[in-house]
Amino acid sequence: MQVAPSILSADFGKLNEEVKAICDGGCDLVHVDIMDGHFVPNLTIGPVVVNTVAKVATKPLDIHLMVENNTFFVDLFAPLKPKYITFHIEEEKHPHRLIQKIKSLGIKAGVVLNPHTPPSLIKYLIADLDMVLLMSVNPGFGGQKFIQNVIPKAEELKELIKLYNPSCLIEVDGGVNDENISLLKEAGVDIVVAGSYVYGSEDYKEAIESLKGKPIL
Ligand code: DX5
Ligand code: ZN
Repeated sequence: MQVAPSILSADFGKLNEEVKAICDGGCDLVHVDIMDGHFVPNLTIGPVVVNTVAKVATKPLDIHLMVENNTFFVDLFAPLKPKYITFHIEEEKHPHRLIQKIKSLGIKAGVVLNPHTPPSLIKYLIADLDMVLLMSVNPGFGGQKFIQNVIPKAEELKELIKLYNPSCLIEVDGGVNDENISLLKEAGVDIVVAGSYVYGSEDYKEAIESLKGKPIL
């Protein structure tokens, strides 16, 4: 299991230290939530701040766009060379075209599904995707309660992935903690995002390790 702590729950007054701490603590990716105040009722950070995160991070960035104008934001963040850019399928008229654009910039592409969006909607996109991100909360805020039906949804998605593109990864975002992690592992999830669980803990390294667990042999 890969772990991507979300810096949304970090102390922004000491952001550099907070980013360094999760990287030193053994995270796999640094999850960066970009919100525009339109697609979701919250605003976060822009490329100036994310650039400082990119400079201090020793692990690759995983940029999660929660915005209306995806193409504009891809152009804004691509120069920071994240490993992944994911965008919401609910907000994109031409997802196939945008996936090709992200990949042409040398970045891995993923789509995000809100809690109500069925995996079948992306059946004909899976072959082109590096990752699918399933929301296990409604996007917009950290610290919300985990929505359980992401488990059967991840299992359903895994079946489609086996058929159409076995190298596509499944990431789950929202309310992830040490209580639901084993269910996520069993459902075939590859990466978990965890904001309040990691940044709300006394020891980030310990929290990250509790989610990574032992590799399944
Ligand atoms: C929610 C964001 C998440 C959020 C997760 O819109 O996409 O990445 O920061 O935070 P927790 O883990 O606290 O639910
Ligand atoms: Zn996120």
